[in-house]
Amino acid sequence: MSQLDEILLQAQTAFAQATDSNALEQAKALFLGKSGQITELLKGLGKLDAEARRAAGAEINACKTAVEAALEARRDALRTAALEQQLAAEALDVTLPGRGAGHGGLHPVTRTQERYETLFHSIGFEVADGPEIETDWYNFTALNTPENHPARSMHDTFYLQNGENVLLRTHTSPVQIRAMQAHAKLHAGKDVMPDLRIIAPGRVYRVDSDATHSPMFHQVEGLWVGKDISFAGMKGVIIDFLQRFFETEELQVRLRPSFFPFTEPSAEIDFAFMTGPNKGRWLEISGCGMVHPNVLRFGGIDPEKYTGFAFGMGLDRLTMLRYGVNDLRQFFENDLRFLSQFSE
Ligand code: DAH
Repeated sequence: MSQLDEILLQAQTAFAQATDSNALEQAKALFLGKSGQITELLKGLGKLDAEARRAAGAEINACKTAVEAALEARRDALRTAALEQQLAAEALDVTLPGRGAGHGGLHPVTRTQERYETLFHSIGFEVADGPEIETDWYNFTALNTPENHPARSMHDTFYLQNGENVLLRTHTSPVQIRAMQAHAKLHAGKDVMPDLRIIAPGRVYRVDSDATHSPMFHQVEGLWVGKDISFAGMKGVIIDFLQRFFETEELQVRLRPSFFPFTEPSAEIDFAFMTGPNKGRWLEISGCGMVHPNVLRFGGIDPEKYTGFAFGMGLDRLTMLRYGVNDLRQFFENDLRFLSQFSE
């Protein structure tokens, strides 16, 4: 074997033994570096005469090219190996099942509220809002509720300790006053005030808890104030609402005389399905009445010029009837097995 063949073989062996690019560059230096074997041979050419130099030069260069090719091949192999190792380490098993994004749903009471808002919006009612922490004045006084009324007692109402005459609102009726005040202010000085038509859904609080009462529950207040607003008009609005809410005309509605300090006359609205599982049972759904002149006055509206009707309905009750649920507390226990039955 010639010396050059020997060098090539040594180079190939050394490259093959290099297991990373650092080792490979060191091996390269042994042959192609400044004092590598091939470089030394090339330096030696100068001592030869012209003809021998040409022949030897060609052979050495051929060897150099072969060594360089071997080096390049090994570089490639190491690069490929490194890439494969990285791919193996970072491999994703795309056949594994995905984790999936759990999707939420609306609470059944929220669904009822949205349905309520849609139906009333379609007949020109706007949604009004008021604070859940309310003053005694808005919650009782402005609603014509006297000082000695039992609803004002400690065992019916949650009072806040840090504020004087501040409480958790016991009904959505105070929103009536707030809405009337804002409306009266907005139209002050005009000859004719446009009708005020609002519903006010929200949470209310009472000292009460059993299968049909929760200390927190939901009501919707309704209020229509304007010229010549009548009790008969109210009955029409309520019947239309119930029919559309329950998607049936097969229901009867009756108004029973009742008493509320903030309405005169006052009534209790009952309705009964004429078909289905609740057929023939009268269900109490709402209090209502013509807004008491004192209440209009507290709202800044002249009772000599305008009249109005109001009603207060239990949202949870409507939800129970619509979905056939018989224990109110289930709505507020946050058991997803129960709640997810109602989301789409
Ligand atoms: N605020 C009453 C309650 O919580 C319900 C009610 C009755 C509201 C008659 C009204 C109404 O607006 O006119 O028991």
